[in-house]
Amino acid sequence: MTQHLSQCAIKRAMTRDKRKPIPPMTPDLDAIIDRHRDRPGALLPLLHDIQHALGYVPPDRIPDIAAALNLSQAETHGVITFYTDFRTTPPARTVVKFCMAEACQARGAEAAAEKLCGALKLSMGETSSDGRVSLEPAYCLGLCASGPAALVDERPLARLEGARLENLIATVRA
Ligand code: FES
Repeated sequence: MTQHLSQCAIKRAMTRDKRKPIPPMTPDLDAIIDRHRDRPGALLPLLHDIQHALGYVPPDRIPDIAAALNLSQAETHGVITFYTDFRTTPPARTVVKFCMAEACQARGAEAAAEKLCGALKLSMGETSSDGRVSLEPAYCLGLCASGPAALVDERPLARLEGARLENLIATVRA
């Protein structure tokens, strides 16, 4: 009986090991593109929908997007690269958008950004080689009176100096 039980346990374990991991849900980009097909002025909403679903706009889908909206690939690519919000590579685990606009600069954003970049060994616009963190410049997050300001994974943070900046650095590094 004991031997039978242990054989069953081994068999279960072997079956479990052979099971394929469940693949992550991949968004249906064709359905998103179809939803906006032939709609005038739909490029920005379509790009936002794709980025929202996937985290970025894959460059290899530019021909499909352009064809669906009767645009040239150059126009489509131009819009994607014009708006800094659009990404063409998968996002890092943590995305820090640090405000570099005037009001934040007047409140010390440049020095804070320099400290952040130095601590993370990244320049603005770069992603760490391990894919853990991206640093992106932003231009006004609506927190001008409380700068320096940033969005960390879309969560707003204000007064990023001293201990608050140190906390941000420690959190991002963790
Ligand atoms: S200038 Fe930085 S939040 Fe407005």
